[in-house]
This record gives sequence, C-alpha cells and structure tokens, in this order.
Amino acid sequence: MENQSFLSNRLLIGGLAITIVSAFFCASLYWFFRKRIYANLQLYIKQKGDLDEERHRLRQYKVEEVQKATQNFSKECLVGSGAYGNVYKGFFGEEGTLAVKKLHTDSYVSNEDFKNEVKLLAKVTHSNLVQLRGFCSGTGKNGAKILVYEYVSNGSLLDYLIGKGGRSLTWEQRVNVAITAAKGIAHLHEGNKPSIIHRDIKPSNILIGEKFQAKISDFGLVKTGPSGDDESHVSTQVKGTLGYLDPAYCATLHLSTLSDVYSFGVILLQLITGRPVVDTSGNQPTSHIIDWATPHLEKGSVGEILDATLLLEQCNTEMMLKMGQLGLRCVKKEPKERPTMTRVWKELQAALYRAETFKREQKMASERSLGKASQLPAHSRNDDGDDYSCSVSLNSVGLQRFQVEMDSFSFQSRNLRCLELDSLSFDIDAKSIS
Ligand SMILES: Nc1ncnc2c1ncn2[C@@H]1O[C@H](COP(=O)(O)OP(=O)(O)OP(=O)(O)O)[C@@H](O)[C@H]1O
Ligand SMILES: [Mg+2]
Repeated sequence: MENQSFLSNRLLIGGLAITIVSAFFCASLYWFFRKRIYANLQLYIKQKGDLDEERHRLRQYKVEEVQKATQNFSKECLVGSGAYGNVYKGFFGEEGTLAVKKLHTDSYVSNEDFKNEVKLLAKVTHSNLVQLRGFCSGTGKNGAKILVYEYVSNGSLLDYLIGKGGRSLTWEQRVNVAITAAKGIAHLHEGNKPSIIHRDIKPSNILIGEKFQAKISDFGLVKTGPSGDDESHVSTQVKGTLGYLDPAYCATLHLSTLSDVYSFGVILLQLITGRPVVDTSGNQPTSHIIDWATPHLEKGSVGEILDATLLLEQCNTEMMLKMGQLGLRCVKKEPKERPTMTRVWKELQAALYRAETFKREQKMASERSLGKASQLPAHSRNDDGDDYSCSVSLNSVGLQRFQVEMDSFSFQSRNLRCLELDSLSFDIDAKSIS
C-alpha cells in the first residue's frame, strides 16, 4: 500500500516537471521567435485582405496616385459635380482612364463605414452598371474619401436630353439605352441578395457607353434593399430627386424595387418626348411630364408629344408609342400594378425585335421590287421622244421608303396611285424622267 502511494507521488511529480519544462521551452521559443511570428501573422492578415480585394476586383489607391492622375484635382480634369462630390477624369498609366469621384468629406460617418460600403459595392458587377475599380480613404475622420470607377466615355443621358454640345439620340439608340438601362437596374434588383434599390434613377445617373449602351451609376451611394422575413419593403427616410420620386414611397416611406420602376417610367417618357420632368421654360403649361403625356398615350397617339429631333429622321413611331405606354405602366400610382424591371426590358426587347424584323422585311421587299424594276425591257425608254409610259408594281413598300429610294436615283413620277394597303402601283411618264 505504501509502495503504491510512493509510486503515484513520483508519477505526479514527474508529470508536473515535464509540464513545467515544456511550458518553459515554449515560452523560450516564443521569446526568441516572437518578432518572426508577429511578422508572419501580419503577412497572413494582409494577404487575406489583398485576396478579398482581389476577389472583389478592388484596388486601394494611394492619395498621391489619384492626385497625380487628376493633376491634383484640376479644373481641366473636372467632368462634373453632384450632390455627393466632384467627378474627375484621371489618367492612371497602364490602367488607362478612370473616373475619380471625390466625395464630400462628410459623406460618410467614418472611414470604416466608407470601406464597408465600398467592399459591398465591389461585388456588384454587370455590363450595364458602372464598375467600381477601387477606392482611396484618407486618414482621420475627415480624410479624403475617393471612389475610382471605370470611365464612361459618352456622357450621361441628361446630356442627350438637353442636347448638350448638339448631342441627340436616334429612335433606335433611345430604345437601346432604355433596354440596357433596364437590364442594369434589374440586376441590382434581382441579381443581388439582398436586392439593391437604387433610389436615385434619373438621366444624369444613366451614363452612355461607347456602343450607346447604358451604364447605371451611383447605385453605391444608396443603402441596400430589404432583407429578412418581410422582403417586400424597407422603411427609411425619403431620398431621391424631385420629379422622379415615387409618390407612393413618399406617402408611406415604404421603399421597394418598384420605386425604381416608377423613376424609370419617367425616363421612358423623357426618352420619347425629350422634355424635362417639369417644363418651366414657358413653352408648355407647367405640368409634370406624366400629366402632360398621359392623355396622348392613352388614346394611342404619340405624334404630338414626340421629341422634335426625332422628326428629322425616319422614326418608328409605333416603337415610341410602345415605349411611352410602357412608361405609363411603370408610373402607376399603385406600386403592385407596375411591371418589374426584368419585365420592362423583356417587353422592350421583344418590341424592338418585331420592329427590326418588319424593317428588314420592308428592305428586302423594296430591294426585290427595285431589282424587278431595273429589269424592265429596254423599249420602255423613250429614245425617239415618243409619248409612252411603263408601269412598275412594288409590294410591301411603305410610301416614305419608296420616295427615299427613288430620290437616290434622281427619279420622279408625276403620277402616283396607291391601289392597296401593302401594294403600291404607279405609272411613270417617260417624258417626266429627267
Ligand atoms: N464613371 C463615370 N464616367 C464618366 N463620367 C462620369 C462618371 N460618373 C459621373 N460622371 C459624370 O460626372 C457628372 C457628375 O456626376 P455626379 O454623379 O457627381 O452628379 P449627378 O449625377 O449630376 O448628380 P447626383 O449627385 O445627384 O447623382 C455626371 O453628369 C456624369 O456626366
Ligand atoms: Mg450621379
């Protein structure tokens, strides 16, 4: 019995001694290598951070780098300014030209808020959204907060609507801008969880790319959409621009993706009319574009409200009418009656496809008919000065198209007679051919 207790005491003492020696050994190791351990830990944290930034395609710029790219935020590089700050064109060597948005120092509460918001934004990528490339955050609460975006070269939709520098859009470009803008907004709504509500859809936030495709900007300067059980709306203070603000949202403070649909509806009306949201020029009675355009569009007529610059070219009025009427559905007072952004772009795309198919068919029919006309027998020409005429028949050719094509041949006819709706027949008096 005594032997047993002696043995267990020795074991206990032995174990204790081993533990103390091991602890001492570990402490010595740590003491000797502590600097290296710290360095490796910091390297790991930094690499993890870099990887995160890489994954979000985000780069943290140095203030000096941005200053150099924008010639110290010079007037020459200033592109425009808005509620959140100034936008500069920056030249970043191999990275090319980028847009630098220098936010007002009080735009975010802290640098930490700013960085979090920026990281969230970097995850949102779509060809119809202006891509965030990186950021730059100064030190201290009021340090410079700068966002670096891809540079969109063709100005904003607002520039085209007000005709800045003589800019204007053809009817096809207007439809293309509408479709691509709707795709970008639809991605914010449906391609992210929680969905992102833009809150400030307006022409200056729709930038125009090289191929006249829309790129939505400033979606980062708003808060993300609803999440959790009740995903239909979030209650928040009213933000947005007068004229584009959804009255249902203003009345209830319930924000949903359908408020963006309302703002987009106003833009569709502007695209076909080229009119400001509220015309204060004195040319028209001061009223909101919706009140002004609704009676015309409801009775299926677009001619009286069409942008005058569209009258200078061949305009597909049917497509413009479709776009206007879709705009009216987007601005319905009851949000639930509005279409989603995905539905909007799909409807526009289908209408454009129909319009293009029709145009192609018209062109082919016109070419076929003109081909037939050029094969007319030689005797139909009046070489002897005799008074005789030939007859040509064109199928499925619109009157306007026919005139344009004939003009290009310097060809005139005194006698023009429409026989059927889609079949045109006319006589050519040989004497009248110059
Ligand atoms: N990524 C970009 N590429 C090219 N130009 C841009 C870019 N972002 C903005 N701009 C230009 O800078 C101008 C100012 O933009 P900013 O967003 O600061 O103001 P805003 O859109 O006019 O008003 P708000 O601040 O209310 O959005 C815009 O009109 C646009 O033409
Ligand atoms: Mg903007």
